[in-house]
Amino acid sequence: MPHWNVYVTRLIPQAGIDLLKQHCKTVDINPRDEILPRAELLKQVRGRDGVLCLLSDAIDAAVFDAAGNQCKGFANHAVGFNNVDVKEATRRGIPVSNTPGVLTDATAEMAWALLFSTARRIVESDAYMRGGKFKGWGPMLFLGGDITGRTLGIVGAGRIGSAMVAKSVGFNMRVLYYDVFQNKELESKLGARKVGIEELLRASDFVSIHLDLNEKTRHFIGEPQLRMMKKSACLINTSRGPIIDEAALVRALQENWIAGAGLDVYEDEPAMKPGLAECPNTVLCPHIASATFETRTKMATMAATNLIAMLKGEPPPNIVNPEILKK
Ligand code: GLV
Repeated sequence: MPHWNVYVTRLIPQAGIDLLKQHCKTVDINPRDEILPRAELLKQVRGRDGVLCLLSDAIDAAVFDAAGNQCKGFANHAVGFNNVDVKEATRRGIPVSNTPGVLTDATAEMAWALLFSTARRIVESDAYMRGGKFKGWGPMLFLGGDITGRTLGIVGAGRIGSAMVAKSVGFNMRVLYYDVFQNKELESKLGARKVGIEELLRASDFVSIHLDLNEKTRHFIGEPQLRMMKKSACLINTSRGPIIDEAALVRALQENWIAGAGLDVYEDEPAMKPGLAECPNTVLCPHIASATFETRTKMATMAATNLIAMLKGEPPPNIVNPEILKK
């Protein structure tokens, strides 16, 4: 067995660990089930042949320096890789990989779960029941909004946004999408219509965000955009927190510019902006969109497969900086 020595920044499903152990002499894992403190990350990557990291680890020039020149790559256990300074990795010729595809349905399902629970006020109702407040059926109790026949606005029509649309079919919805690219399949198979962001925000009953986080999409939804939405609309975000100006969203929820928000991600994760947790018209989850046993197992296996390819000096199947291969 090669003498490879790799580090895993937090416990992942066993299938991924087993795969690494089949190929590497040393597989060290952060022993605590919590985010690795920065100083510990810098210490633990030193001298490793490869690192399997998470979306909560900031992988930047200091980490590449700490790891050393022998390090053959970083495999991110996530589809999003905004936590990695890919430009710097590319400049240094270090491969970086992600886990696309395997979490598409789980994430779209989570967006639907948030949409349903926000529209139908499931979390508020649950707290009401547990609080012993239910005194009998009431015609005005917890009125929410219809879903069937309404307008779904998808911001970002890539893999996950498209899966969200595919799952809307039984609800007979009108679907609008915003993207810089045209998605012909979404249009021909699912009847979605490409529109500008302003038209989407003004016309949709549900706006679901599925963008990558980058400098162009940071605060893509801010106060002006929230003010364009219908007062009866709900905003759903399962992508990355900083795409929404969360302080503006808190004001929108407090002052009822929109009806509600279902969030799985936060601008300063794991913290929430002041006031968000007190807004009753929100459903708040701790970044669990891909958290099913099946999906996380596939992500772990995929990340391990990518790392093993890097160790062998082969291009990882899910490389995010393929430019380095041309050098
Ligand atoms: C989850 O947020 C992911 O990017 O995989």
